[in-house]
Amino acid sequence: MTDESRDKAAAMKRRAARQAASLVQDGMIVGLGTGSTARLFVEALAERVDQGLHILAVATSEATATQASASGIPLTTLDTYPKLDLVVDGADEVDPELNLIKGLGGALLREKIVASATDLLVIMVDESKLVARLGEHVPVPVEVEQFGWTLTAETLRTLGAVPVRRTIAAEDPFVTDGGHFILDCRFEPVVDLRQIGPLIKAITGVVEHGLFLRMASTVMVGTPDGLGTMRRATEP
Ligand code: 5RP
Repeated sequence: MTDESRDKAAAMKRRAARQAASLVQDGMIVGLGTGSTARLFVEALAERVDQGLHILAVATSEATATQASASGIPLTTLDTYPKLDLVVDGADEVDPELNLIKGLGGALLREKIVASATDLLVIMVDESKLVARLGEHVPVPVEVEQFGWTLTAETLRTLGAVPVRRTIAAEDPFVTDGGHFILDCRFEPVVDLRQIGPLIKAITGVVEHGLFLRMASTVMVGTPDGLGTMRRATEP
């Protein structure tokens, strides 16, 4: 990615993040996502808190918790508030039905736990994240227990996955906040990612996967000219 396209993507993400921050109302308990877009959202929300907005927030990662508390957003836990008014997060891919791939930022487990605690999951993306079919651009991150991870990877292969353990530098494995590895899984094109989630989850050793299906209520899409909004059709 060139500096210019990175700046353009950042401007689109900022647009979506500011719009999402405007949805937060006094008294809400808000889930805070993880990643560069979530970071911009936390910045925008912190400005509103500074101006007198009263909220409590639950963070989906240590990184977000550090940013939020350093910028004056009071934190709480899901154990104290198991139901959240609103959760705002980024995503790596969004399909036309608002199904998502998440987890390139490494926080998918806590993100999914927090997302499952609300009826209002708002996702912010720049338009490059929109795809016709999940898996077009990015692999599905699968969070796995460290113990026996090669066996877990082999079992994932039987589902048509090509798992690659995520590393941070050279051969150092990336380790999640929960102490797990991430296997980034590309799947054979015949595999429908909208169907595969339960099969991935059923593998012993898998902790969680980054397919967030039928969870997002709204997606705010930053574009070069403004902002678009996608809403999930209500199910019969
Ligand atoms: C972290 C995530 C992020 O929300 C996702 O990777 C998008 O990140 P960014 O906003 O930096 O593009 O799922 O686990």
